[in-house]
Amino acid sequence: MSRETYTAHSIINGQPYCGTGTLEVLCPADNSVVALVTEADTQATELAIQSAEKCFNVLKSSTAKSRADILYRWYQLIMDNQTHLAELVTLEQGKPIKEALAEVVYAAGYVKWFAQEAERAYGAVIPAHTLNHQLTTVQQGVGVVVGITPWNFPLAMITRKVAPAYAAGCSFILKPSELTPLSAIELAKLALEAGFEDGALQVLLTSKPHALVAQLNSHRAVRKLTFTGSTSVGKLLLEQTAKSAMRTSLELGGNAPFVVFDSADLEEAIEGLMIAKFRNAGQTCIAANRIFLHSKIKSQFISMLKERVSNLTIGSTQDADIGPLITICAKQKALGLVAGALNQGAKLVYQGEELEGNFMSPVILEGIKPDMTIFGSEIFAPVVSVIEFETEAQVIDMANSVEVGLAAYIYATDIAQIHRVSMGLDFGMIGINEGAISNPAAPFGGMKQSGLGREGGAQGLSEYLEVKYLCQRTIVN
Ligand code: SIN
Repeated sequence: MSRETYTAHSIINGQPYCGTGTLEVLCPADNSVVALVTEADTQATELAIQSAEKCFNVLKSSTAKSRADILYRWYQLIMDNQTHLAELVTLEQGKPIKEALAEVVYAAGYVKWFAQEAERAYGAVIPAHTLNHQLTTVQQGVGVVVGITPWNFPLAMITRKVAPAYAAGCSFILKPSELTPLSAIELAKLALEAGFEDGALQVLLTSKPHALVAQLNSHRAVRKLTFTGSTSVGKLLLEQTAKSAMRTSLELGGNAPFVVFDSADLEEAIEGLMIAKFRNAGQTCIAANRIFLHSKIKSQFISMLKERVSNLTIGSTQDADIGPLITICAKQKALGLVAGALNQGAKLVYQGEELEGNFMSPVILEGIKPDMTIFGSEIFAPVVSVIEFETEAQVIDMANSVEVGLAAYIYATDIAQIHRVSMGLDFGMIGINEGAISNPAAPFGGMKQSGLGREGGAQGLSEYLEVKYLCQRTIVN
């Protein structure tokens, strides 16, 4: 990939839209400018809504089969362009190339899954209350959808929303993160090449999302908002969409417990933790955030972990295990949490060398207690925070004591215990002896303040469908 700076534009009605003002896209590995992006203004937003509304009317009279075929072509184009897409993700998001390639496949997986699901948006026949009635339901696309996506998975968080929306027959206006707009633009170009109608997927780029999102959320033509990001922003968006009773799906923050019982296979638990903690440098909503270790295995586990963590390579080389954090602020925030925990009485078990720029060495802390700030914070960095426990009831209580409930992990070999604990944890997704739980075929989402709705799986399509009930009476003369 050439490192020459280029200029990218929003996509409105199938065409590049040269906006006003420019935003710089930085490479997290060295904070150099990799691209300039022109910003969508009020007029651009209005044009995008009009085009999406027109396109929704076209999609309404398309068949699920034709949309499935187009989605399948999009899937193939993403796979054909996987190297280019992965390089772009590494450039603007920072994750090592092997993780970026895995993200491309993961992102494409959602498109393939919803290409298949498109044709399964079944209705129902309801046993009628008289012989003259036929009661049926059909499902139809909800309408124009607005999607706001984050920087941590610049491809997969888009396909997880756009593919089911298109499968359902909805048009989509995407506002990707201002930190990673380039991947979004490339994905949209491939969608248009695959046959998406003009207006079926439009991308609005801006570094001032508040006004733009407020304009979208207050427009009568917009019928659904889908957002992935922080719990605090999600709640503000929900206040906006409440005004028009707009369908809203929220994929918000997590604070995942990773519980290792004394019956666990410790080698397996370490493997699982390496994925659940260090994928994307810890910058995932499902990252293992609080590591609960049974007192009997704590010391052994920590020394095994220290050995593994000290062998991780951090950098921007091809074979690096951990890339830079997204911004210098993100690193400062994580280091602040570590310092705060140490001030509050935590013990430092491991900290790699101090690194330049956005790169951060892993840290292992033990002696974390529920009243420490770090316990209730989503760390979003390569920091392992260890809490010791004695009993099943105590660990379930501590794990559930936070306001969010996205993912949790349990390592144990006692089947009855696995059953009890997985039923007791208030989390939407549970990895049982598994640290890599994300899968296009499975419902992704959380309980409590981790959000509303599910993405992926069969549930992911329903989020974009309205159920219409038809009550038909036969007039007997
Ligand atoms: C996220 O961090 O929000 C997404 C992680 C995933 O899909 O695996």
